[in-house]
Parts: sequence; C-alpha cells; structure tokens
Amino acid sequence: MLYGRGVLNLAPKSLPGYVFPKDGLSRLLLLRRTLNNWVSVARKLKFEGGRAQPLTLIFKNGEEFNARNPRKAYLMVNYYAMARLWGVSPEIGVISRISQDIESKLNKAVSDGLLTTNTREGSLFSVLAAFLVIRVLKPRLVVETGVAQGISTYYFLKALELNGAGRLVSVDHPNRDPAGYSYDGKVDTVYVPEKLSPGWLVPDSLRGRWELRLGRSSEILPTLDFEVDMFHHDSEHSYQNMMFEYEWALQHLVGGGVLSSDDVTWNGAFTDFVGRHHGELRVLINDWSTGMIQKAPGK
Ligand SMILES: C[S@@+](CC[C@H](N)C(=O)[O-])C[C@H]1O[C@@H](n2cnc3c(N)ncnc32)[C@H](O)[C@@H]1O
Repeated sequence: MLYGRGVLNLAPKSLPGYVFPKDGLSRLLLLRRTLNNWVSVARKLKFEGGRAQPLTLIFKNGEEFNARNPRKAYLMVNYYAMARLWGVSPEIGVISRISQDIESKLNKAVSDGLLTTNTREGSLFSVLAAFLVIRVLKPRLVVETGVAQGISTYYFLKALELNGAGRLVSVDHPNRDPAGYSYDGKVDTVYVPEKLSPGWLVPDSLRGRWELRLGRSSEILPTLDFEVDMFHHDSEHSYQNMMFEYEWALQHLVGGGVLSSDDVTWNGAFTDFVGRHHGELRVLINDWSTGMIQKAPGK
C-alpha cells in the first residue's frame, strides 16, 4: 500500500511538554483550573488514597465525565489540561462515549466467559495523549504496535475519523494464553481470547481507515518502508523490543512527527533512547507510564 508523505511536513507544529503536577497544592490548582466542581472533587480525591468510588467531573467548558474511580478522574483532569495546553478541544463527550462502549463490551465478554480478566483501560493516559496528538497534528499515517482487544486502536481510529483523513497501520502478535507470556523476567498478562480477533472492540464503522498486520513488530516493521507521522508503542515491553521499535520509529518519522509509548517505567529503554538522541527530539511527556517525544523538524 502507498501512503505518500505525511501531512505534518507541510507545517510541523511544535507541541509544549506536559508535566503532571507533583505536590498537593499544584494538584489543587490544577483541579481549580479545569473543573467547575473542583471543591467537591478535591474532597473525594483526597489525592493519596481516595476511595474507589465513582465521581462526576464538570469541566470548565461545561462538559461532564463520569469517572469510575479517583484514578481515572485524575487522569481525565490531566487529559483536559493537556488538551488546553495543546490548543485543541478535549472532546470529553467523544472520550466518554468510547470509554462507555469499551467498558460495556469488556464487561459483556467477561460475563459471556470469553475473557477471564476484564482488561480495564489501564494504559489510558498514553492512549488519550496519542488521541490528542492525532487531533492536533492531523497525521496522514499512524503506526501502532500492540492491539490486543483494541482500546488504543479504537481511540486512534476515532481521532482519524474526526480529522476526516489519515490511516492507521497496527501491528500485533496476539498472545492467546490466559496465563500470559514472559520476557525480561516479567509476566505480561494481556491475552486475546481464541474466539475473538485482535481489535475486536473496534466498531465496524471505523475500520475503513485501518490495516492490521499480524506478526512480531521485529518482523513486520522492517517491511513497512514509508514515512510515518506518528508512532505508538504498546507491544512487548522488553528493553530490546522497545529500543528496536523506538529506533525504527525515529528513523521513519517525518520531522515534527511524534513517538508515544506506553509502559515506559518497565525498564530504562525510553530514558536511554532519549539520552542517545537528545539532539534530534524533544520530550513532551515522561510521566504516568507514558513517554512521548517529538522529532525535531528537518531531522
Ligand atoms: C498491552 S497489549 C496492547 C494493548 C492495546 N494497545 C490497547 O490499548 O488495548 C500488547 C499486545 O501486543 C502483543 N505483542 C506482544 N509482543 C509483540 C511483538 N513482539 N510484536 C507485536 N505485538 C506483540 C500482545 O500479544 C498484545 O496483544
């Protein structure tokens, strides 16, 4: 398939970095800046150790989000702030509808006995950050590794649909064993049930912009010989595989293109990669298990 050059290289937009507030006061100021009901949310969050209760967020733009627990609430508050920082609408309604659809499909798969564990949206911050990048930069071609049930795939395809342009190529080597698979001495418990295909969460209406390549990223990526506007890693989080994918991405990204990665805290690959290439990129996010860099324009 031919993709041509990305749209980014016309006028790459330089994105500011986003840092999660670290101390109690900065977190409180973040809530006040983003929420109309920040006082009651602050009480319920209590930051360290808020009880696992659902809570409603009423954002400054009037949009509401029902968060399942304080962790997701705080994640959404940061997502909103990041969207504002990057000058794009947070589209809370869109996020909320996708999130509910995913939740109900996962719950059904569990009650139908297809999934033994309900894969929650654990990686959601990296996915939402990448969703925003797609909405801001309007990439022509996005490549992601690691599909599983298809949470990231769903969000990315929705962002492309909203853009009215662009394609997503996903690479997945689905693990079918409910006991998980291991690397670097760790067990990764994500699996795709035999009766389901990778990306089964993605609605048919979004699949027109999608191409799924099955196989290990180390085998598939070298066969993709085109420029990429955005790359997202969420496959095998071994040091070796992450470094391989980051290097492949940097080589294939257009100037101003973005590489995002989930689970950067699993090992030192992201830090080492950034150190190795510090003259060629800027770090946008290195927090909440999410790593994101923007390749320097013209590199
Ligand atoms: C964490 S899950 C992906 C979750 C997905 N991004 C989401 O948001 O729902 C990781 C997926 O990558 C697959 N995988 C593992 N090793 C891989 C490899 N070397 N190449 C490609 N995919 C791999 C796993 O089997 C699993 O389907």
